[in-house]
Amino acid sequence: MRRSVVIGCAGYLPENIVSNSELAKQLDTSDEWIQSRSGILKRHIAASNELTSDLAYKSADAAIIASGISVLDIDLIVVATSTPDVTFPATATAVQAKLGAKNAVAFDLQAVCSGFVYAMATVDNFIKSSQYDLALVIGAETFSRILDWDDRSTCVLFGDGAGTVILQAEIGNGDLNDRGVLSTHLHSDGRLHDLLYVDGGPSSTGEVGYLRMEGKEVFRHAIEKMSSVTIEALKANNISADDIDWFVPHQANKRIIDGTARKLGIAMEKVVLTIDKHANTSAASIPLALWTAMSDERIKTGDLVLIEALGGGMTWGSGLLRW
Ligand code: UT7
Repeated sequence: MRRSVVIGCAGYLPENIVSNSELAKQLDTSDEWIQSRSGILKRHIAASNELTSDLAYKSADAAIIASGISVLDIDLIVVATSTPDVTFPATATAVQAKLGAKNAVAFDLQAVCSGFVYAMATVDNFIKSSQYDLALVIGAETFSRILDWDDRSTCVLFGDGAGTVILQAEIGNGDLNDRGVLSTHLHSDGRLHDLLYVDGGPSSTGEVGYLRMEGKEVFRHAIEKMSSVTIEALKANNISADDIDWFVPHQANKRIIDGTARKLGIAMEKVVLTIDKHANTSAASIPLALWTAMSDERIKTGDLVLIEALGGGMTWGSGLLRW
C-alpha cells in the first residue's frame, strides 16, 4: 500500500516579536488576562513587506534543505491559508516560483485553522492514488493583516507564521506499523459560519475585512468537536489514546487544549504546546508545533502522532500518522 511518509519538516516565524505587555500599552488589556485566558505570552508579526508566500517559502526552503531533496522532484505544493498574498493567483504558485519548483502543481486550500489537516488529507489522497510522489504541505498565515487591532477580544489571540511538512510516497504493509499518514478525518458545518468569519471579501464588500469571533461559542465547539474527531481517528485505527506518542492539536487556546486532553484522558506530557510562543497562527499552528517537537527531539522516527484542529466554517478534522 502506498503511504505518504514525512521526510522533512520546518517552520518559520517572523523576526518581530510583540509581547502581551506591549499590546497592553495600546489596548485595554493586560499580560495577566491574555496569559490566564489563552496561555499566550507573545506573537510574531510579519514585517510590512513580508507576505504569506515569503513566510511559506522560508519554511519550505528550510524543510527542503533539511530533507536533502531536489526542488525539481517536487510534484505538488499545497498551501493552506486564509491570508493569501492576493485574491488570485494562489499563494502556492508564488511559493513555487520562489522555490524554483518548476515541475510542481501548486494550489491553495482554504479551511482556516483546520487548513493544515485538510491539506494533509488532500495531499495524502493524491499520493495514495499514485498521481503524485513528492509533495509540500504548507500552512502559512499573516493573520495580523486581518485583525481589528481595536478589538481586544480577538487581536490579542493571533500571530503570523508558516510551517512545511514534506510527504513522499513509500510502500507500506497497509497496517498500523507503517510509517506515514494512516488516516484522516474531516468535517464541515456551514451553518456555524457566524461564529468565526472575516467580514469582507472580493464578492461581498470588495475589501479584505476583519476577523470576527464569538469566542465563547467557538471555545465550546472546539472542545466538543476536537474530542469527537480524535475519538473517530482512534476508533478507525482500533487503538486507544494510550497508544499515541504525541498529540499535536491546533494551538488556539491552552484552555481548549487542556479541556480536550482532560475529556479524552490524555496525559499533558504527551501534548505538544506552542501557543505560549507564537499565539494562534491558524493553518500554520500544527506544522509549527510538529517542527518544534521534532527539533527538540520529542517526536522521533516511528512515533505515533495525532493531529487535530477546528476552525472557521466551521471545519474540523484529525489525522493519525507514524513519523
Ligand atoms: O482557531 C480557532 C478559533 N479560535 C478559538 O478557538 C478561540 C476560542 N475562544 C477563546 O479562546 C476564548 O473564548 C477567548 C480567549 C476568546 C475569551 O475567553 P473567555 O474566557 O471566553 O472570555 P470572555 O469572552 O467571556 O470575556 C470575559 C471578559 C469580558 O468582560 P466582561 O463582559 O466579563 O466584563 C470581556 O470583555 O474579558 C473581557 N475581555 C478582555 N479583557 C482584557 C475580552 N478580551 C479581553 C482582553 N483583555 N484582551
